[in-house]
Amino acid sequence: MSHPIVAMTGASGACYGIRLLEILIAQNLEPYVMVSAAGRQVMGVELGSGDLKDHLGTAGYREEDVRDLTSPLASGSFPTSAMVVIPCSTGTLGSIAHGISSNLIHRAAEVSLKERRPLIVIPRETPLSQITLQNMLTLAQAGAHIVPASPGFYHGPVSIRDLVDFVVGRVLDLMKVPHTLTRRWTGVPVSFDAPFILSQSKDERLAQDERGRC
Ligand SMILES: Cc1cc2nc3c(=O)[nH]c(=O)nc-3n(C[C@H](O)[C@H](O)[C@H](O)COP(=O)(O)O)c2cc1C
Repeated sequence: MSHPIVAMTGASGACYGIRLLEILIAQNLEPYVMVSAAGRQVMGVELGSGDLKDHLGTAGYREEDVRDLTSPLASGSFPTSAMVVIPCSTGTLGSIAHGISSNLIHRAAEVSLKERRPLIVIPRETPLSQITLQNMLTLAQAGAHIVPASPGFYHGPVSIRDLVDFVVGRVLDLMKVPHTLTRRWTGVPVSFDAPFILSQSKDERLAQDERGRC
């Protein structure tokens, strides 16, 4: 069986990577996982711990050290099904786009491109500089899928998890991994009371803004 690779880097949105890993592990796909040093830091800030074990336990995946270029992931002779960089920092995006393989994440992505295996990159930054936009285009032209961490709002989200699942669901689609994470658009709007973000009246929202400014 060839395994998927999941790399988590230091962009905001560690929850996207953890949620994707939960699904892949539950489906016994035994992902190989890499987390950059900045990825650990951001995971700690956003999820309370930068240690994968605290979010996923220890079984069902294999973690590789990003400094270990002797890893099987550094070679095209080791079969893998797809690689996802989620979330992807602008720094890692730039390194991959320019073939600068200074750690195992960059190298494994380079291998995915040269072996014509799916490479799916989930950048998170806003606004985007011209350099980052150019790097995204370079990567897309090299065959990568660029999937910005930008959830839709047409599936009736009522929680942050619904928004996370929207993005992760699109990634799983590209990996050809079946899932039921999110309602697909059928041409018929979902009926729900109101999107939770706008659940207060306009006056209540404006009053809350006013209180926030004081
Ligand atoms: C709390 C926090 C949030 C960050 N969010 C982002 C982000 O959303 N996008 C981004 O490109 N970099 C972000 N950074 C900066 C990256 O972590 C930094 O550029 C780092 O060098 C990336 O290294 P890596 O690509 O090896 O993970 C953030 C850093 C911190 C500490």
